[in-house]
Order: sequence, then structure tokens, then C-alpha cells
Amino acid sequence: MWQQPTYVLVTGATGFIGAHVVDQLLSRGIKVRGATRSLAKGEAMIRARPQYAGQLDFVQIADFDAIAGEVASTMFDDAVKGVDGIIHTASPLTYTTTNNETELILPAIAGVRAILLAAAAQSPPTVRRIVLTSSFASVMDANRAAPPYFTYTAADWNPLTYAEAAAPTTSAVIAYRGSKKFAELAAWDFMRERQGKVTFDLATLCPPMTFGPVVHPVEHVGKLNESNAMLWRVASGESPLPVARVPFWVDVRDVAQAHVEALVREEAGGKRFLPAAPERFSYGIAAGIIKEGFGWAKEKVVVEQQVVDESHGVDGEAAARELGLRYRSFRETVLELVAQAAGMEGAGV
Ligand SMILES: NC(=O)c1ccc[n+]([C@@H]2O[C@H](COP(=O)([O-])OP(=O)(O)OC[C@H]3O[C@@H](n4cnc5c(N)ncnc54)[C@H](OP(=O)(O)O)[C@@H]3O)[C@@H](O)[C@H]2O)c1
Repeated sequence: MWQQPTYVLVTGATGFIGAHVVDQLLSRGIKVRGATRSLAKGEAMIRARPQYAGQLDFVQIADFDAIAGEVASTMFDDAVKGVDGIIHTASPLTYTTTNNETELILPAIAGVRAILLAAAAQSPPTVRRIVLTSSFASVMDANRAAPPYFTYTAADWNPLTYAEAAAPTTSAVIAYRGSKKFAELAAWDFMRERQGKVTFDLATLCPPMTFGPVVHPVEHVGKLNESNAMLWRVASGESPLPVARVPFWVDVRDVAQAHVEALVREEAGGKRFLPAAPERFSYGIAAGIIKEGFGWAKEKVVVEQQVVDESHGVDGEAAARELGLRYRSFRETVLELVAQAAGMEGAGV
């Protein structure tokens, strides 16, 4: 019989998406153990949530690059003790790399394999479900061109080969897409190989560009996570505006809710979800929202008409239906993040 999880390991718990996942679990009365490379960040997370004293603890883990290429890592063996669910959000997300394969691709795959191996080795085995944060990067085909109009769904896979993703001449953006695809594939392959031999199943989430307010420790506005940093560049008056690689996005709170629903709903097991808001975005649209929304932005922010790619779409409705989501609007998301980031920057904005 399906049992609701009561104690969940969240990797990447001090990150942008992971911290929202932590908060949504705690608010539902589910205990959380966070995994982090920096216990100081874990302690900051605990200090910021005094109302959940005793409900949130952290374990320290090494960087995934330390286990890249290892066949049988035991990195998470202690971290999984006593938990009955896992949400694995940790994965390298940076576009400033010197070696894409060793900094992005191999660590992403190693982290996924390590978490699955630890769950499979758990004694007694208590984990019932693992939810993995994949990405729209593992869905999209950068060479697929309309017409005819097409709609991405959770059944689509990025056709990049490993050799293409890992080639030294490949950009970090493409290597990141490979890191997400091959890490997610490693998880599905693992589940196929161990079918009938493990007590848990798997659900994966493939969100596109994720924006929204932060609830994780951020030292200063210059240390915002990659995706929100793009919106802050717009708010800071960057010109010309950055250009969105894909016009699809989703609010971080909706993504976090999707993770938690994928964890607690029995019928989500074995499925891949693509949570995405119905509106398309561009940084030009973001600039208009920011300029209109904040007095300090009137002179500062540059508004450009950017062409929004309407040649294809994304089906975020299936995930909304199956996981009970109601997507926030781009306006709400942008205004909340920018108000928060402006507060971090101080009165000088
Ligand atoms: N933000 C987006 O637009 C977006 C969109 C789709 C999918 N995603 C996926 O969502 C997940 C979380 O992303 P995020 O935006 O929340 O990023 P983030 O703020 O950078 O958080 C990622 C967390 O993963 C951990 N991590 C990163 N590299 C690691 C490594 N080499 N070894 C061990 N741990 C590592 C870090 O935790 P510690 O520093 O505490 O160890 C970090 O806080 C990732 O899997 C990402 O691919 C993000």
C-alpha cells in the first residue's frame, strides 16, 4: 500500500529550486534532511526557519566531481539512512567552465548514480520514491525547426550524443543540455536494470527556465542563481538586453510544488513531467514589466521589442493536470524576484 513520505532527503537543498522544495515539504509536515557541500549554508537555512526547529537537518557531502567516473560510489550511503523519500535537485548549473565534461557532464551523471546506488543499498530499505530534477534541456531539440508547428511534451528527448555534448569545442550551454540528458537517462537506465530488485520508483521533472523569489542563502545580489541573474541584468539596465534561448519558463514555486506532488502522489511513479507556464517570455517583456513596476527602473531599464518565438510550443498542461498545479504569471514572478533583489542591493537602486 502507498505510504506518504515522512522524512525526505533533498539534495541541492541550499540551492534556488531545492530550498523552495524544502519549504514546501516542511509546510506539509514532512521532515527534511538537506544535503550540501557547505554545512555553513545548511546552518543558515536552519537559522532562517526557527519555526521548523527539529524538522530540518543537514548532512555534508563532497562535490560530485570527486566521484565522477566511479562505478559504485557510497557518497550518499549515510545521507539516506532513515529517509523514506528523496528529491535530487543537485547538479552543476554554470556556464563558466574550463572543461565541460569534467565540470558539468560527469558530475551530473555521478550525482544521479550515487543517489540511486545509496537508495538501492539502504538497509532496511525505506525509500519508496525518488524525484529527480531534470530539465527542459533534456527534452528540447535545438535543431528542430518549424514549420510545421510542433509542441514539446514530456515524451520528447534531446537528440544530442554524448560525444557532441562532451566535445572540447562545444559551448557550456550545449554541454549543460548534455549533462541533464545523460544524467536523467542514467536514472531511467538504472531503474530498468534494477526492476523488481529495489523498493522505490522514479519520477522526473523537466522544467524550462525557472525564475522567482529566492528562499536560499544568497550573500548578495551578485550571487543570484544563473536564471534569476538574467532578470537582474535586465533590471540593472543592461543594453542590449540578453536574448532568451527558449521562450518557455516556469515559476520556482510551481516547480517546487511539482516536485512535492510528484513525491507524494502514488500515480506519479515511473513518469516524466514537464511543468511549464502557458505564457512565453522574453527579456524584452521582462524589461517592460520591471520599468512599469518600479519607480527606480523608469530611467534605468532599457525596453527593446524582442521577437518571441511562436513557431512551436510546450505542453505544460499535462503536468498541471496530473500534479494539480496552477501556473503563476510572468508578471507576478518578475515583480517578486526584482523587488527582492532590489532590496538585497540596498537603497541605491
Ligand atoms: N534554474 C533553472 O532555470 C533550472 C531550470 C531547469 C532545471 N534546473 C535544474 O534544477 C536543479 C537545481 O538548480 P538551481 O537553479 O536550484 O541551481 P543552484 O541554485 O545552483 O542549486 C544547485 C545546487 O546543487 C548543488 N551542486 C551544484 N553543483 C554541485 C556539484 N558539482 N557537486 C555537488 N553538489 C552540487 C549545490 O548545493 P551546495 O552548494 O549546497 O552543495 C547547489 O546549491 C538542477 O538540477 C538544475 O539543472 C534549473
